[in-house]
Amino acid sequence: MKHSILILGGTAEARKLAEKLAGDPRFATELSLAGRTRAPAEQPVPVRVGGFGGAEGLAAYIRKKGISILIDATHPYAAQISRNAAEASRLADVPLIALRRSPWQRQAGDRWTEVGSVTEAVEALGSVPRKVFLTLGRQELLPFEAAPRHHYLIRSVDPVEPPLDVPHAVYLTSRGPFAEADEARLLEEHAIEAIVAKNSGGPSSYGKIAAARTLGIEVILVRRPDLPDVPSVETVEDMLAWLAHAPAPPKPSLK
Ligand SMILES: NC(=O)c1ccc[n+]([C@@H]2O[C@H](COP(=O)([O-])OP(=O)(O)OC[C@H]3O[C@@H](n4cnc5c(N)ncnc54)[C@H](OP(=O)(O)O)[C@@H]3O)[C@@H](O)[C@H]2O)c1
Repeated sequence: MKHSILILGGTAEARKLAEKLAGDPRFATELSLAGRTRAPAEQPVPVRVGGFGGAEGLAAYIRKKGISILIDATHPYAAQISRNAAEASRLADVPLIALRRSPWQRQAGDRWTEVGSVTEAVEALGSVPRKVFLTLGRQELLPFEAAPRHHYLIRSVDPVEPPLDVPHAVYLTSRGPFAEADEARLLEEHAIEAIVAKNSGGPSSYGKIAAARTLGIEVILVRRPDLPDVPSVETVEDMLAWLAHAPAPPKPSLK
């Protein structure tokens, strides 16, 4: 009997895991995306797109598709879907394992200001106009309209539409990974004085953090949300090791 795996994705790790599982005869793997990105990266396994309708909807989907392992490989700031996954795993009685990158740790030379929310990040920028690099999701940018005195450089995967109601904003659209040298060049080119970012962890968006350290630029980091306490691993390799020893899937009932 094969395991039917549902990966809740939207991250580089979810894609990498799907790549490793594609074609593995022990598993039938499907990847789920929220549908936020207009042109999502191509994926190596079948994909379904869009919300399930809360934890109940996810549990119903798991039952209908005969999913035997649920993997939460969503972004560490996507707290709602992680809570839904924990609840759906309980409701549908399937094992859940999360793939979660550990957060970046402060190093000597880092000028970090940690804040609890995007609104607090806006406050932390202060009253003197600054040149600020925002690397947040499109949906999280609105609070910066309350601080129109700053000059913003805004990078997102999809265009910010409508643009922010601020007088000084430059927009960049691109998808990581971002190398440290390129990030340093960008920071210097725009004379950036502060960066607002999430503590995403992992290597693909660390370039700006390392470049900021070298250039002595302040980084205002929005703290991670609380996530449900579920079994978890930190790397794709550890997930593969866990799956190799996963209990056999339940036999189909003869009803
Ligand atoms: N938040 C970030 O900073 C961030 C950064 C990079 C990538 N992402 C990715 O973008 C997606 C959305 O993030 P978010 O912060 O908006 O999520 P969220 O606030 O935790 O979830 C909101 C709702 O979106 C739906 N959803 C989220 N992820 C889904 C998935 N993988 N498959 C199907 N439905 C999903 C669920 O809808 P229903 O309740 O209707 O099922 C969920 O309740 C996630 O897949 C995440 O991995 C997020």
